[in-house]
Amino acid sequence: MEEILRADSLYHIYESNAEDGNVVALRGLSVSIRNGEAVAVVGPSGSGKSTLLKCLGALMKPSAGSVELAGRRVTRLTGSELVSLRQQTVSFIFQDSNLLPHLNALNNVAQPLLHQGELARPSRKKAQALLDRLGVGDRALGMPEQLSGGEQQRVAIARALITNPKLILADEPTGALDPITSREVLALFKQLHKEDGVAFLLVTHSKEVASFCQRSLELREGRFIAQHGGDVDIADLSDSRELIVDDSGTVTLPPDVLLEIGGPGRFELPEVSRDLLHLERVEDDRIHVGGAGTMKLSSTCPACFHQYGDSDEQLCPECGSSRPMIQA
Ligand SMILES: Nc1ncnc2c1ncn2[C@@H]1O[C@H](COP(=O)(O)OP(=O)(O)OP(=O)(O)O)[C@@H](O)[C@H]1O
Ligand SMILES: [Mg+2]
Repeated sequence: MEEILRADSLYHIYESNAEDGNVVALRGLSVSIRNGEAVAVVGPSGSGKSTLLKCLGALMKPSAGSVELAGRRVTRLTGSELVSLRQQTVSFIFQDSNLLPHLNALNNVAQPLLHQGELARPSRKKAQALLDRLGVGDRALGMPEQLSGGEQQRVAIARALITNPKLILADEPTGALDPITSREVLALFKQLHKEDGVAFLLVTHSKEVASFCQRSLELREGRFIAQHGGDVDIADLSDSRELIVDDSGTVTLPPDVLLEIGGPGRFELPEVSRDLLHLERVEDDRIHVGGAGTMKLSSTCPACFHQYGDSDEQLCPECGSSRPMIQA
């Protein structure tokens, strides 16, 4: 099966003159999505999910690395070639709905078609049908500021669907929706995926959203550290985890795995062969990086102060942040 999207060794650095300096948001990340495949990206806040999506959809140029959309290297295209490739291939659903404030819902949805030179009447008709399908047909004449967050998000989803994209890049698409609407949107995604063969790359904290995907990639500090199969339980990523060794040979261990091997330190490799790496701790020469061997999962979420109690969850059920390790 052909690839709809491929990225190799993506790096992205946000340059800053501020005291805390540059932020390396992506660190040599590669990913490939086949036509019609649905893939989730899961990971804590700040791990680079939105940056990744913007680079993949050619909204932002990565500092290094290449992106291919539908077999075409986006960094080699001229401005107008890029715009038309994007219009024919990919749609975005952002974390916030990003509607144009001066257009009503209907015209926001119709806008990508009008932009492609289609006639106003059929474009608006198609837009109205999509708004109806998303349950906001009666809000078609509302301006974005008059719509609730959930309504705005549904309008944004309708706008993303109107060009019949082959790939949808979505950043927390159901994050702003109530559970019922969120289920409806998910059902629509499933239908587009199954019946129309639309490929998805979805950033999500939701178990339900992730479970509609064939696989989930776990992002941490700008690198994919692991891949999980379908039906992943986001609250317990360790259950389904396959570790990823990236192109540069870097393995980043998730905190629970790190805990299991006794924390950071120095290791010997008594056995190395294809597909096998045997790590043995250098016992008498422990490096006390953050107190090796005395780490445990934090009992409080550093972002929202959720109390984990005696659960061994990896991601915060309230805010999706990754659960850090602290000294025991
Ligand atoms: N415009 C920017 N300028 C400087 N740094 C940025 C900018 N945007 C993001 N960053 C930094 O890059 C890193 C990755 O940010 P990104 O928004 O991709 O994370 P995320 O995984 O989408 O997080 P969240 O789950 O909170 O949306 C973070 O450290 C963030 O502070
Ligand atoms: Mg984000």
